[in-house]
Order: sequence, then structure tokens, then C-alpha cells
Amino acid sequence: MYYVYLGRTGLRMSALALGTQTFGWNIDEQQSKALLDQYVEAGGNYFDTADSYNGGESERILGSWLHERGERDKQILGTKVFFPTSEHVNDTGASRKHILSSVDTSLRRLQTDYIDLLQIHCYDRRTPLEETLRTLDDLVRSGKVRYIGASNFTPSELMKAIMLSRFHHWETFSCLQLEYSLLVRSAEWELIPLCQQEGLGMLAWSPLAGGWLSGKYRKGNDIPSDSRAGRKDRWDDSAEQRGNDQAYDIIEVLHSIASEVGRSVSQVSLNWILKKSKGVIPLIGARTQIQLKENLEALAWELDETQMSRLDEVSNIGLPSPYSFIERYTRK
Ligand SMILES: NC(=O)c1ccc[n+]([C@@H]2O[C@H](COP(=O)([O-])OP(=O)(O)OC[C@H]3O[C@@H](n4cnc5c(N)ncnc54)[C@H](OP(=O)(O)O)[C@@H]3O)[C@@H](O)[C@H]2O)c1
Repeated sequence: MYYVYLGRTGLRMSALALGTQTFGWNIDEQQSKALLDQYVEAGGNYFDTADSYNGGESERILGSWLHERGERDKQILGTKVFFPTSEHVNDTGASRKHILSSVDTSLRRLQTDYIDLLQIHCYDRRTPLEETLRTLDDLVRSGKVRYIGASNFTPSELMKAIMLSRFHHWETFSCLQLEYSLLVRSAEWELIPLCQQEGLGMLAWSPLAGGWLSGKYRKGNDIPSDSRAGRKDRWDDSAEQRGNDQAYDIIEVLHSIASEVGRSVSQVSLNWILKKSKGVIPLIGARTQIQLKENLEALAWELDETQMSRLDEVSNIGLPSPYSFIERYTRK
């Protein structure tokens, strides 16, 4: 494992972060804790969860493991707030009320007195941004939270948030958690360059597109029944959503590069992210220890330029206007 600074902060994170969305969803507590041990033993130090994951089970299991392991200060805990945590009208969004009560609940479940990275899970178009940002600033000043981040913001929403915080001398977002993989590359148009220019770290969620880039889905073959898409237990992983012609073309190139370099398809997919966009930390998910072992071995080797170009080309989604216009008329 190697470590990178999170954006312009002094915080050093492992090059692969661990997502815990599967905890309490399609794996039980014991299996989840085995994955946590395995990740830490490989040198990993960042754990991603959310108040809304599986009714709080993901946070609870992570907290219980941390308590048993007793190495809280060695680990970096990231959680998120925005999605509904109950039926109550105010148990959702990025309002002052919801953020503050959610943080207290997360601290209890995680069995800790501080959250390293608190992220707004999605831009809240109903709550004034100043209300959200001022609340996050208060939380950092109170010591309950160490760094703050955004997730699922558009470029203009993110830039507005950064400028508002700077203008008011509030704590500013240190990172963005964004969807990014060979199947979802739109973050390259503006979000990734924006984060690089403004000094934000980046965490890529669903780096294998929910498993689609792991090699187990292939054109002409049945969807494996013991897979996320086969079980249909996540709407956005359905074959209808992901399994288009371009996805299957990408998968074929991945298979051919994987056999050339003697690596697995998952490892090639993750390695492409690491090499393609400097500063992006893939947030790996895994349901089994075998999958986790495989994904952790995406480091310590590199795809060559030709292999990168083949993957770039097959996954190309073009540039929409105005990016294409600007690209054409901007002098290099
Ligand atoms: N900010 C956000 O809005 C947001 C959204 C989504 C996720 N996230 C975060 O990102 C993390 C990762 O997301 P994700 O779970 O979608 O990541 P992913 O890596 O794209 O997909 C993980 C899934 O792919 C399959 N898989 C993984 N490695 C494999 C391998 N080597 N071989 C075969 N199958 C493999 C497993 O599913 P099966 O075996 O069940 O098929 C696994 O659960 C989450 O845990 C969460 O922390 C954040």
C-alpha cells in the first residue's frame, strides 16, 4: 500500500479506500469485520460509510469493529449525511437540524468522539448553502469533525460552496466523492480538473461500476445469479442500466489487457483510474475476502501508455458543448 495526501490537507490516506455499503446489506457483521481486518492488514486506513447505509448498520458494524480493534487514531473514518434516516420530515437533507442530529447519531454508532471526514452526501437544492456550510464550520470548530467534503455536487455547486466558505472564512471542503470509472467518465469534463485546481482530494465511488468492470459480466453470457446485478438488489446495477454495447466493448478490451499483463479485470479497471486521474482514490467495495484481496492487488504495477490509450478510446464518451468548443479554441 502507498499513501497520498488528501488534496491540499496534511492528511495521508491509503491509495485504496474501503467502502462499507455492503455491511449489513448483503454481508453480515462477521463477514464485514473480516473484510475490515483484511483491509487494515494490507495497510488501508480510510473507511467510508454513511448515516443512511442499511438503517445505520454499516456505521454500527464499523464502530463495533473499531471498538474491538482499539486503534481509533490510526484510522480515518468518513461518513455522510443527506439521505433520509427515518420517515420524519426533518430526518433528511443538509439542514442545520438534520446535520447536527445525524452527526450525534453517527458518533454514537461509530463509538468515537470525532469523525475524520464528514461529507454532504448530495447537494441539497432546498436548503440554503450558507446554512449547510456554516453548520459544517461549527462542527469542525467544536472538534466533532476534522475535515469536510462534498459528494454528488455539480461543478458550479461545488465551486459556489468553495467560494462561499472562503469568503466567510469558514472551513472549506477538502474533498469530493464522485462517481468515476471506465463506465462513468463525465467527471473528467470539469469536476476532476476543478478539484485538482482548487486542491480538493477525490474519492471515486463505484470504481468497478458496481461490479460491471470486475470481469464477471460478459456479452452473450447469463448475468451470474450470485452477483449484484443477478440478485437485482441495487436498482442502478441492473443489467438494463449498465449492460449497453459500449459497456460490453469496454469489458472485452479489459479482458484482453488483463490476459496480456497477467492481472485480473478488476485490477486493470482500478489501475486505469489510478493512472488516468492523479489524486483520485478509488473507493473499493467488496462482498467477499477473495474480491477484496484481488482489488487490493491493483497497486504496485502500471498499465503502459498503449494499454491506457486502448481503454481511453473504447470508453470515450466525447465532449459535449461547451467543453468541446472551448477545447477546440483553447491554445495548448
Ligand atoms: N457517495 C455516493 O453517493 C456513493 C454511492 C455509491 C457508493 N459509495 C461508496 O463507494 C463504495 C464502493 O461502491 P461500490 O460498492 O458500488 O463499488 P464497486 O467496486 O464498483 O462495486 C463493488 C461490488 O462489485 C462486486 N465486486 C467487487 N470486487 C469484485 C471482484 N474482484 N470480482 C467480482 N466482483 C467484485 C461486488 O458485488 P457482488 O459480488 O455482489 O456482485 C462488490 O460488492 C461504497 O461502499 C460506498 O462507500 C458512495
